[in-house]
Amino acid sequence: MQTRTQFFTTPIYYVNAKPHLGHAYTTIAADVATRFKQMDAHDTYFLTGTDEHGDKIVQAAQKENLHPKVYVDNISRLFQDLWPRLCVQNDQFIRTTAPAHIAVVTNLLTRIHDKGDIYFSSYEGQYCFGCERFYQDRELVNGKCPDHGVAPSPIKESNYFFTMSKYQDWLIDHIKTHPDFIHPEQYKTELLSFLKEPLEDLCISRPKSRLTWGITLPFDDNYVTYVWFDALVNYISALGYPNGPLFQKFWPGARHFVAKDIIKPHGIYWPIMLKAADIDIYDGLNVHGFWNVSGSKMSKSIGNVTDPVAVTETYGVDAFRYFLMREMVFGLDANFTEDVLVSRINADLANDLACWLRLSAICWRGCAPWPA
Ligand code: ME8
Ligand code: MG
Repeated sequence: MQTRTQFFTTPIYYVNAKPHLGHAYTTIAADVATRFKQMDAHDTYFLTGTDEHGDKIVQAAQKENLHPKVYVDNISRLFQDLWPRLCVQNDQFIRTTAPAHIAVVTNLLTRIHDKGDIYFSSYEGQYCFGCERFYQDRELVNGKCPDHGVAPSPIKESNYFFTMSKYQDWLIDHIKTHPDFIHPEQYKTELLSFLKEPLEDLCISRPKSRLTWGITLPFDDNYVTYVWFDALVNYISALGYPNGPLFQKFWPGARHFVAKDIIKPHGIYWPIMLKAADIDIYDGLNVHGFWNVSGSKMSKSIGNVTDPVAVTETYGVDAFRYFLMREMVFGLDANFTEDVLVSRINADLANDLACWLRLSAICWRGCAPWPA
């Protein structure tokens, strides 16, 4: 019998701050999915890692007076050390500053450029430095970036563009004809409704006069690669694209776990990048909601984050993992407070589960319950 294979990934997290409960949620969800598939006789591969290039990393390093390389090494280490403490069994931890990853990004850019899907042009647009991307007017909320709540800055510069618009009809068709491509359903609807408007080509370079901490473009060394075009490639560079045995074995059977903040890069840029490079499209995207604190997203920029290690020190790893999986309906937002955590642990684990265990022990052993 042929073995069935399944590849699971988490986002590669930015190293501009320490890991928090939101990162722990996605990674534990993907870990649970991996273990489930293993029980269902699949050969699995589970990837996580860190996203280490771009402007916001440089800024975070500058704040600490460290060279970006030293800084990214320090923070990436925190992520690498966290996962075993949360009983996460990833098969690999990828870093975008690793030479093997850089080689694959360079290879892919060359392929897409040779195909004629990258062109040079002058551009004037609204740029959000927090997101490191240009915004179209219709994406702004009251003229402000929906993620950072600040008005983007007008920027005019010459850059390289990726012809995403050319693949818009193909992508709409792909989403419609592959019912499991975007899960749950509400995010598929969201993407398709975004795709009703014409897609703009993607600016994939940043001039070195403004940013040097990135992967140099193979066809113009005055530019580095836009951080998203670099980061998404991790999902195949980690497997040793194009000829590595892991790539042969596990691609394209990939399910990417992400939260709804990064649905566009994963649901639009990434499949189009693969299509343009003549690589098979991944199986699907599992999109979850946000952990909120008093109605706002738990996030490093707001500063309302919960340290997963501190929680496990008080309540234990199993209880923490159980709480994360039980409390959030996959796809919807959930609210985090320590009270919610404690009630869930008390009601489900201390009360219901312990009661059942005690009861089944009584029936099974046919003797009195164990001493209190
Ligand atoms: O976006 N609730 O990295 P990032 C739930 N480097 N999940 C949350 C969360 C919250 N409040 N906060 C963070 C990036 N997450 C890019 C990804 S992938 C090629 C590049 C989780 O450090 C969730 O998985 O901002 C979200 O999508 C991810 O962290 C964003 O991590
Ligand atoms: Mg983020």
